[in-house]
Amino acid sequence: MKIELWFPTAIYHHDASESEIAGVRAELQSVVQQELDEILTRSDANSRSYIQSRLSAHRQIIQKYDLTAFHDFLIRHAGAFLSKLYPDAQGIEVRESWFNFYAPGDSQEVHNHLHAIHPSFLSGVFYLSAPVGCGDIKFYHPNMQTAIPNPQGSIENYETCYAPVENRLMLFRSHVPHAVMPNRSDAMRVSVSFNIYVI
Ligand SMILES: [Fe+2]
Repeated sequence: MKIELWFPTAIYHHDASESEIAGVRAELQSVVQQELDEILTRSDANSRSYIQSRLSAHRQIIQKYDLTAFHDFLIRHAGAFLSKLYPDAQGIEVRESWFNFYAPGDSQEVHNHLHAIHPSFLSGVFYLSAPVGCGDIKFYHPNMQTAIPNPQGSIENYETCYAPVENRLMLFRSHVPHAVMPNRSDAMRVSVSFNIYVI
């Protein structure tokens, strides 16, 4: 008998050092309150418990606030990831970027970041504020139609979690389903999500 394991799902994560991330944090911290205030005035932010803009036109914080340090940080890490996934890529572009705010109790349902017409290649998240217990990001096997728990003793697995640590960057292929577990801390969880396209 021979059993082979094929089709792994790649997840990139990086915990940035203080020296690497200081400029990125300063940029994001300088605009986060303004963006939250603006999001709360828009109707597309009101459909869920957690707070984020739903419309692509409102998911442009890199361009809107000229976040060059954050942009360079994403391009550097996405480029490193892409060199392992798609070595022939000529270039990459971050086309959507937006803040997510999870108050205590908030969570997000299982979803992926595929757009029907122009699917992005990579998606990801950067954690600006991540109090202990604020809700793991959970990834699911892309070929599973429904989430099922990992069977004990099986060589296959269907879901895995990462804790949201401050200054942690996660990158993954845009088709990979993921969810955010409930924020069980007593403080706000703040992250920035983005979609990256191969050009
Ligand atoms: Fe997502």
